[in-house]
Amino acid sequence: MSANRPAAVVVLAAGEGTRMKSATPKVLHELCGRSLVGHVLAAARALEPENLVVVVGHAREQVTAHLAESDPTVRTAVQAEQNGTGHAVRMALEELGGGIDGTVVVVCGDTPLLSGETLRRLAATHDGDGNAVTVLTAEVPDATGYGRIVRDGASGAVTAIVEHKDATESQRAIREINSGVFAFDGQLLADALGKVRTDNSQGEEYLTDVLGILREAGHRVGASVSADHREIAGINNRVQLAAARRTLNDRLLERAMLAGVTVIDPASTWVDVTVTFEQDAIVHPGTQLQGATHLAEGAEVGPNCRLKDTRVGAGARVDTTVANSAEVGPEAVVGPFAYLRPGTRLGLKAKIGTYVETKNSTIGEGTKIPHLSYVGDATIGDHSNIGAASVFVNYDGQEKHHTTVGSHCRTGSDNMFVAPVTVGDGAYTAAGSVITKDVPPGSLAVARGQQRNIEGWVARKRPGSAAAKAAEAASREPEGEA
Ligand code: UD1
Ligand code: CA
Repeated sequence: MSANRPAAVVVLAAGEGTRMKSATPKVLHELCGRSLVGHVLAAARALEPENLVVVVGHAREQVTAHLAESDPTVRTAVQAEQNGTGHAVRMALEELGGGIDGTVVVVCGDTPLLSGETLRRLAATHDGDGNAVTVLTAEVPDATGYGRIVRDGASGAVTAIVEHKDATESQRAIREINSGVFAFDGQLLADALGKVRTDNSQGEEYLTDVLGILREAGHRVGASVSADHREIAGINNRVQLAAARRTLNDRLLERAMLAGVTVIDPASTWVDVTVTFEQDAIVHPGTQLQGATHLAEGAEVGPNCRLKDTRVGAGARVDTTVANSAEVGPEAVVGPFAYLRPGTRLGLKAKIGTYVETKNSTIGEGTKIPHLSYVGDATIGDHSNIGAASVFVNYDGQEKHHTTVGSHCRTGSDNMFVAPVTVGDGAYTAAGSVITKDVPPGSLAVARGQQRNIEGWVARKRPGSAAAKAAEAASREPEGEA
């Protein structure tokens, strides 16, 4: 058990988030591959709480479904009507069977930049100082909308939190704000919540009033000032959401760069929290890396790539490509303008060129599909070359079928491989072939109409045309001249 392990962390996520102006509940908006509430839960987990409760209310079916999928072990407490943050915490304590012994940490579901480290420091201060409540605060350049921390002029002790809407002119000048994150003594919290009133401008039960109530009852009230005010930014609208995304993205890229990744243009590079890199990976501008994407040592990605859940092998090069659930082998070359769909697996030094789409296909070592092709539901061996403009015809209108091409094959341009079909090792196919039957190893398959030339057709059918004149001039040219 880690030190300062709280009895519970309560995440407030019942509010509607009207200022988002969205059909999606606020806490489900996304940044860097996780929902707002998902980020908060990740930070909360760093405390290893005995109980983790999310208070849901507005659009609770949607929020609960999201939690069940993304973090199935969290408990939820329902706040049917959003009567304020104090009321929300009351609902959480009820879910936990009333008052709870030990520390209860409360965080808002809309502060995605909050780190586990900051929460740990808050819990440690709270326990170390023996406080009844410890509030995480910060000095911010613009305190508009936040609750203000009111301190005693003489002692500097925190006396109360006043909501922006309820604050006087002089209180509004205070730049130290309530982050919405608290550590409480569980029993004292339960008692104080019973005394919170609703005679404020919003007619709500404010959690922030607990602080004044506990202080007046003679309990120790403390504050922990956050070093980085950006970390506690609450997201209320989409401007703040974009700013938080930018901040988190910068943080992730900074970490990657310090670990030896070259990011040419951090401003146009976007990564999810779940993306991983090895040393000397290079990311070019205009690139989005999502989900479980991993760039191995020396892999070079971009410009203009969107890779999701894709592993790029050591020294591979991926340019102007969209990839989803694909595996790019070491030193493989992909793009520009390639589309790797789920189940694509490229071997060592394989090449996928321009305007090539692949799906559910294993492509062997050194095999090349350089131009204008679709390869779906296929297995291709090593060191084969698939001619330009080929299609692996995998769909008969009802079912998908598999194509196998062996190693060291040379298939001609403009081939259709009508699955199910197999081309044996070392086989060739002629340009323009429609391959419907298996090709034995080492054979040449020719599957196209025979060419027939009808001499003099243009002179007879298109007399006097530019084509006819050009043909006539050509027939007059003496032998040997070009
Ligand atoms: C709150 C704080 C304010 C603080 C700010 C920090 C109160 C009264 N005010 O203000 O001091 O500076 O956060 O970001 O606590 N929620 C519920 N049920 C409710 C109301 C809210 O679960 O009945 C949840 C919301 O979903 C949200 C969080 O509590 O995640 C905060 O609510 P919000 O309305 O954003 O509070 P602020 O006005 O930002
Ligand atoms: Ca807020």
